[in-house]
Amino acid sequence: MIPAEKLERIREYALHMDWNIAFGGRSKGNRHLERTVKIALSLSKWKDVREDIVAAGAWLHDVGLHLGNEGHCFSGARFIQPFLDELDLSQDDTERVTHCIEAHDGEVPAKTLEAKTVHDADTLDKMGPLGFIRHAWKIANITDYDSSSLADEIEKHLPTRLEKIYLPEAKERAVALERELKNLLANRELLVRLTSLVAKGSRTGIPTEEIVAELIRSEFLPESTLDVLREQLDPQ
Ligand SMILES: [Fe+2]
Ligand SMILES: [Fe+2]
Repeated sequence: MIPAEKLERIREYALHMDWNIAFGGRSKGNRHLERTVKIALSLSKWKDVREDIVAAGAWLHDVGLHLGNEGHCFSGARFIQPFLDELDLSQDDTERVTHCIEAHDGEVPAKTLEAKTVHDADTLDKMGPLGFIRHAWKIANITDYDSSSLADEIEKHLPTRLEKIYLPEAKERAVALERELKNLLANRELLVRLTSLVAKGSRTGIPTEEIVAELIRSEFLPESTLDVLREQLDPQ
């Protein structure tokens, strides 16, 4: 069992890497890791799963992002080793946490229930309207894009995301999220407005949560989308 004080060090380290190092600090204050942990623990509720490994894996899953998006599950799994050594976890716990990181993106199959849970929780935060906004934010940080091709690209990825989900309870949530996203993608005019707003926020260092809060206040999205966004921002 990973003791609470070590989990706290893991949380602090993961947030430091995500807020200050990844994306050159432009994503400071974003709550993706916090939401992933919350979703992962809620998926763990009825299962015989080690919640300490799930929490550690969920906090650390994106620790390789500062080395580039491509292959960040593998670079993160390598990068984290000295930190895990310093924490003096057992060999088995180190391997379990590392596996959650390397399998979170679906590039290698998750072999443990903990890794499946972290993968599904991360995927759920990438899906639905919030997932679309987060993706648009990330891409705008790297390159210029036009809203329409971005929408096409995301639409193409939707079925594969759903297929890769491991846990039936996660799949159920994912289907509902994708239904709402499909409605949103169908309205290209709205999408252009939405993506240009997100791109502007991304380039000026406004985290997605603030952009979404502004969207909720300005009410330019349909009510059903706003409802889903509220739930996604604060998962139970
Ligand atoms: Fe990731
Ligand atoms: Fe992630």
